[in-house]
Amino acid sequence: MIKFTVITLFREAVEPYLKTSMMWKAVDKGLAKFDFVNLRDFGLGPHKSVDDTPYGGGDGMLLRCEPVFAAIESVKAKDPSAKVILPTPVGEIWNQEFARELAKDAHYIILCPHYEGYDERIMSIVDYKISLGKYVLTGGELPALIIIDSVVRLIPGVLGGEKSAEIESFSDGDNLEFPQYTRPEEFRGMKVPEVLLSGNHGEIAKWRAEHSGKA
Ligand code: ADE
Repeated sequence: MIKFTVITLFREAVEPYLKTSMMWKAVDKGLAKFDFVNLRDFGLGPHKSVDDTPYGGGDGMLLRCEPVFAAIESVKAKDPSAKVILPTPVGEIWNQEFARELAKDAHYIILCPHYEGYDERIMSIVDYKISLGKYVLTGGELPALIIIDSVVRLIPGVLGGEKSAEIESFSDGDNLEFPQYTRPEEFRGMKVPEVLLSGNHGEIAKWRAEHSGKA
């Protein structure tokens, strides 16, 4: 069982996707579990504040250490083996190989930063700093969903059906799926490649190998 605990101020932005389609099926089959921790619950003072202005000046607000450490420690108290993921534009670029590395029986805590950034000392309790690419998002929720989705679909048993499993094993060597077609044979002048209609499995496998993308 793989488990993700998402620490966020915006559970409502994350949860619906995890209750949909394959993510929901993974939970239903007992292969994945998703939990949420509301960072606000660990906020400071009467306003449950989680952010403050930067030392040295500058625009915007930064996530403070205290609520973040308290939230993470509350999860680790129950499961000390849990590993912390921080989505950040300055992290290691996420890719299929990285997803495979995380796709095992493990518990990951994903901390979703918001505002303009976070206190650098938060890095001291982070195991994986992950960037989704060279652009900046307003928070960690979308990266969290992308990380979860791309990891959970690799857990054996999540993708149902022989065909998906076949394609999955085909993609083991960083190959992306080959182009596929379903009925009709011709649509608005666009024809399904002849070889796929031939019934020649050897030729079909060769064609697919030649036409698969590289991750
Ligand atoms: N947070 C903001 N931008 C991000 C990005 N590109 N990748 C991961 N986390 C982020």
